[in-house]
Amino acid sequence: MSANPELLHYLKTRRSVGIGFLKDPGPSAAELAEIIRIGTRVPDHGKLAPWRLVIIEGEARAKIGEKLADIAKANNPALDEASIEVERRQFLPAPLTIGVIFSHRPLAKAPEMEQLLSAGNVCFNLMHASFALGYAASWVTRWFAFDTAAQQMLGAKGGERFVGFVHIGTPTAVIEDRDRPDIGRLVTRWQG
Ligand SMILES: Cc1cc2nc3c(=O)[nH]c(=O)nc-3n(C[C@H](O)[C@H](O)[C@H](O)COP(=O)(O)O)c2cc1C
Repeated sequence: MSANPELLHYLKTRRSVGIGFLKDPGPSAAELAEIIRIGTRVPDHGKLAPWRLVIIEGEARAKIGEKLADIAKANNPALDEASIEVERRQFLPAPLTIGVIFSHRPLAKAPEMEQLLSAGNVCFNLMHASFALGYAASWVTRWFAFDTAAQQMLGAKGGERFVGFVHIGTPTAVIEDRDRPDIGRLVTRWQG
């Protein structure tokens, strides 16, 4: 593979675009299929595909919001109306969200951590695919990725869990870069 300046530029400058800045239009059906094909092309010890994807778009976004609001109220009956409205709107800003479920497949040579990392790679690769097609994206979890009732409502089955929700849409703002880690403090050379 020869050097690819465009790809290098992308890798050096890519920024997540917050959910509030992701609007219509979202990917078409054909583009979504492409995003999923690229997104699931990840390292996967044992070829287990220890992940599943849940597509959230259209009317499903508001329906899920109502259900999230119900679960949030059940968890905290004192929740005020403004906070309930936040839950109703969780999936409304972006036209499309892909929920990534980690689905552990027991196999001695591929410990759970390796499979979890493979699922995390799907999240990040879905972002790369979205950017490559001209969209922007953000990978978040939020409380409902850790709440059992919410996870079930969103599509996780027994033993499964969400590792992220990749929100995808057309960016409405250019996001400034954030501080990046001081690599010099994080990298050492092994000296025995
Ligand atoms: C697994 C995971 C979960 C995250 N969950 C959230 C979240 O719930 N809320 C949030 O504001 N940011 C969350 N973030 C951070 C966002 O992705 C954030 O936009 C990111 O740090 C921006 O960095 P970037 O521009 O380098 O992509 C999460 C990040 C990861 C890796």
